[in-house]
Amino acid sequence: MASKRIYNVAIVGYGYWGPNLMRNFMHSVNFTVAYLVDSAPAALNSFQVSYPNVAITTSIDVVLEDDGVDAVVIASPPKSHYNLAKQAVLKGKHVFVEKPFTTSFEEASEIVELADKHALKVFVDYTFLFHGAIGTIRQIIQDKLKFGELLYIDSVRINLGIFQSDVNVVWDLACHDIAIFNYLLDDLPLAVQAVGIDGLGNGNENISYIHLKYKNKFAQINCSWSSPVKIRRMLIGGNRQAILYNDIEPTDKIKVYNKGVVFDTEDKRNEILQDYRTGEVFIPKYDTTEALKNVVCGFYDALTDAGESRGDGQAALLTTFILEMIQKSIILGGKELEIDWRQVGPSLYSYITSKGMLNQQ
Ligand SMILES: NC(=O)c1ccc[n+]([C@@H]2O[C@H](COP(=O)([O-])OP(=O)(O)OC[C@H]3O[C@@H](n4cnc5c(N)ncnc54)[C@H](O)[C@@H]3O)[C@@H](O)[C@H]2O)c1
Repeated sequence: MASKRIYNVAIVGYGYWGPNLMRNFMHSVNFTVAYLVDSAPAALNSFQVSYPNVAITTSIDVVLEDDGVDAVVIASPPKSHYNLAKQAVLKGKHVFVEKPFTTSFEEASEIVELADKHALKVFVDYTFLFHGAIGTIRQIIQDKLKFGELLYIDSVRINLGIFQSDVNVVWDLACHDIAIFNYLLDDLPLAVQAVGIDGLGNGNENISYIHLKYKNKFAQINCSWSSPVKIRRMLIGGNRQAILYNDIEPTDKIKVYNKGVVFDTEDKRNEILQDYRTGEVFIPKYDTTEALKNVVCGFYDALTDAGESRGDGQAALLTTFILEMIQKSIILGGKELEIDWRQVGPSLYSYITSKGMLNQQ
């Protein structure tokens, strides 16, 4: 039996999120962490005590020149992703990039094109796509007989967060919602409209309200770094059931309500009658494996062509394009912007059509 290939990776960026990636890559039987790169020497000092076998360096150049490194895992601030990913791909390395992929669609497209040209993989970590709760929600929604047609999604992702210096709250937080919507709905918005407040006046909005219009449904997002309370709540309504996903709950994050409003249009008096169905509430089980562990497995599946597509570069390009449209709408003072998906270019458009993403009712 052929032995399983183990990939050597270098992790770049060891601030808040890098240690979580390090722990999960270290524990994976599919990967060896060969290097940790951080431009700040202080970040590296704390690390070496715990993992003496990993080489540390303040410059990615050493990693790029090492033919033994198969992939570069990028967990530095968003504005640095493009340059780091491009350099890595040009040196023949696969790339794993933290969300948000890049800070523009143009940059993201260039990375995906370059990687394709060199037969390399681009994987983007939208961690929630690998969370057991999201997987279970997707299954519930797909059971149309029980759930009915999906009508709306309402997401609130607010807390007292760190004001990022290189992206606004849309690219930092709402990017999760957009990636989740694309994955849950297998559908894409046909128009976006958004407003934002730039509290510090540095060009990076810290509060935003976003509205997405699909063919037959709506979604909206409120994201903020300025809320005194932390809320991570998504309400997903179908015409038979509704799902409440509360990510703050330590357990039982999903509740399915067999409750709703029924409109009786068959009434003899020719009036539309409204009736409330107050059915039971169901708490489904879901896989509680740490999402980041699943992400690391997903990256391995992508590298070995095992059919994994949740983290692929094309899916992340769609999210990036929607984020850019939202940003444009904010700049235009909340103007509704229609999206013609042919604008994304023939290769990405053919990805969209191959997935049937614009065929949803
Ligand atoms: N998937 C998730 O849920 C999740 C959660 C938090 C953060 N993130 C993402 O992870 C990334 C890092 O976020 P963070 O909160 O850890 O940031 P951070 O500022 O805490 O840490 C970034 C680290 O990268 C280093 N760095 C900066 N530029 C570098 C470069 N060019 N080369 C090497 N090192 C460099 C910094 O010195 C710092 O140690 C961001 O893209 C962020 O959006 C993802």
